[in-house]
Amino acid sequence: MYISDQTIDRVREAIDIAGLVGDYLDLKPAGRSLKACCPFHQEKTPSFMVTPDLGRYKCFGCGESGDGITFVMKMEHLDFPDAVRFLADKYGIPIEAADPREVERQEKKEALFRINREAAFFYYRRLLTNRRPQAYLRRRGMTSAIINPFLLGYADGQGQSLYRYLKDKGVEEADLLSLGLIARSNSGQGFYDKFRNRLIFPIFNNQRKIVGFGGRVMGDGIPKYLNSPESEVFHKGHNLYGIHTVMERPHRDRIIMVEGYMDVIGLYGQGIDYAMASLGTALTPDQARLIKRYTDQVYLCYDGDSAGIKAARRAIGVFRKEDIVPKMILLPDGLDPDEYIHAKGKEAFEEAIRQAVDPPSFEIKLIKAAHNLEEAGGRMDFLRQAVDYLATLESQGVRDIYLQEVADLAGVKPASVESDLEEAVKKKEALEEEARARRARVSGPGPSGPIDEAYDDEPDYYEEMDPFYEDGPPPYMEEGMDRAPDQAAGEIRDLRVRSRLEEALLFRLQEGPLDDEDLDLLMDYMSPGLEKTLAETMVALRKEGIAPSAQALKESLGEALPEVLYMKLVSREKRDRVSPQDRETLDRELFHRVRLARLNENRRELEGKIRQATREGGGQEIPALFQALQEIDQKMMQMKEGVDL
Ligand code: UTP
Ligand code: MN
Repeated sequence: MYISDQTIDRVREAIDIAGLVGDYLDLKPAGRSLKACCPFHQEKTPSFMVTPDLGRYKCFGCGESGDGITFVMKMEHLDFPDAVRFLADKYGIPIEAADPREVERQEKKEALFRINREAAFFYYRRLLTNRRPQAYLRRRGMTSAIINPFLLGYADGQGQSLYRYLKDKGVEEADLLSLGLIARSNSGQGFYDKFRNRLIFPIFNNQRKIVGFGGRVMGDGIPKYLNSPESEVFHKGHNLYGIHTVMERPHRDRIIMVEGYMDVIGLYGQGIDYAMASLGTALTPDQARLIKRYTDQVYLCYDGDSAGIKAARRAIGVFRKEDIVPKMILLPDGLDPDEYIHAKGKEAFEEAIRQAVDPPSFEIKLIKAAHNLEEAGGRMDFLRQAVDYLATLESQGVRDIYLQEVADLAGVKPASVESDLEEAVKKKEALEEEARARRARVSGPGPSGPIDEAYDDEPDYYEEMDPFYEDGPPPYMEEGMDRAPDQAAGEIRDLRVRSRLEEALLFRLQEGPLDDEDLDLLMDYMSPGLEKTLAETMVALRKEGIAPSAQALKESLGEALPEVLYMKLVSREKRDRVSPQDRETLDRELFHRVRLARLNENRRELEGKIRQATREGGGQEIPALFQALQEIDQKMMQMKEGVDL
């Protein structure tokens, strides 16, 4: 909102700088000024001076200077209008907006924030009175100390709990719909809660207002998280999960960027209370700028899998544009921060922070990890790839620094690789030149360099989940069937669903035996290859009376068991047991998902056949194919009605 100039002037006049700064610092008289230890850098003797006559402050140690508004901006991490608002509130000055429509919009937003807050407290109370979410958190090694700072909550499975509660309080359905807290049932008659049977993570902005929610299934269901949609008050690309806790730290000297909600709270619970996560999307320039208001010491600690590495590379580029060079924390074995700190403890994590490297070393270490440097062939491959990478670095000086590192790793003298590097650089430059020339021929002079400004309108990776898997309406409230799944791009989604499910199934199998029917289904579903072998090994071990622990699997599979999976299995073993009732519910959900997933894959296959038959004019088969498709749809519909009852 635009605050009128008169209001800003009145705020400026009202500021009593000595009193304002005195709220934060211990000011001592010094002639016509006052002094204190500077809040903007570390010091033992005061060099921060406040001069009431001028209404300004200046630090003679670090050079920071400004007036009351900039002081509040820095101390409270607010932008200009919010700092003005903060001060107007403090001095009781009414805010006149430049534009009445803006005022209205602001009030509307405040109303939506209040609704989110009500919802958050509703979920929070449910968490405090329910065993199931508490047991889930405990099983994941989370202490109850994380519940309050993050206002974690629980959405029960009843279907209308939140809706009824808020409606009784007079909240309008339209608002609940726009916040994504409820949805209209397919029959168009009633409404149902969007978050059901989920652990709830309210998302706070940097003013401690709740902008949206993430909800995690308490088991291995799919989708793992359901997130609030974009709304008047929620813009994913502008918010960061965990920012409200980071803000509260007195010395915000650094922050760690992680990928997941669970990473933020897992680290927090172990005493690392300065982690934040972007919200299931790639880091955006806006988020980087937001972080920069707090610190420019940024550590990146993304998951060690290929998706995490890719996301980390993009994040490096985004930070670069804000003049931040992040330090990269590498966790061994593809573990994520939450898994790592639970497996190894706080000290080990802090050691990993100390071992953080700059982006080029990060790349070199990744290349190293992909090669066996014990062998000559591995060393040669490593050198080739590393040199190609070095050639992409911008300056000779930078290349030389990392050339040393590469040479050391390969156990050769830098001089012996120099000519290779020069050649690689020349090749790269020639290619770039050629590309530029080609572009110029096609479209005249245009922007040079890669186009990587696309983050803002990148589709949200996770919101694309197949509607068949999204938590739609509770079955008992529905008459019709869900919308048919969007056909395009479906196969990729199927793959993602499949890989999550296969992992869940393996974890389940590790925890204990299954009845025959479920086991058959599991074996039938597992992809041939590693997944199936693992499952079979687990079953075989159990037949011999050996628990299929991570260790036992490693012994029987050796190298065939990927290290990442091994570590994940180890970390699962540390969790508490599930109660038999919970086990039963979880199993039912899991195998229900498997059946649905399998049907969905069959369905997709049939659709492919139908498309092909249509293209090739094989008309006779089409009716039979459609018949089969209809049968699958019917089955899926029946299944959806059968669950959760
Ligand atoms: P992860 O799958 O790494 O989740 O996704 P996590 O937070 O570490 O949770 P656990 O440890 O597996 O329980 C990272 C982030 O991506 C988004 C969420 O923001 C999540 O925290 N995400 C993931 C979704 O939005 N939807 C999904 O289905 C999965
Ligand atoms: Mn995780």
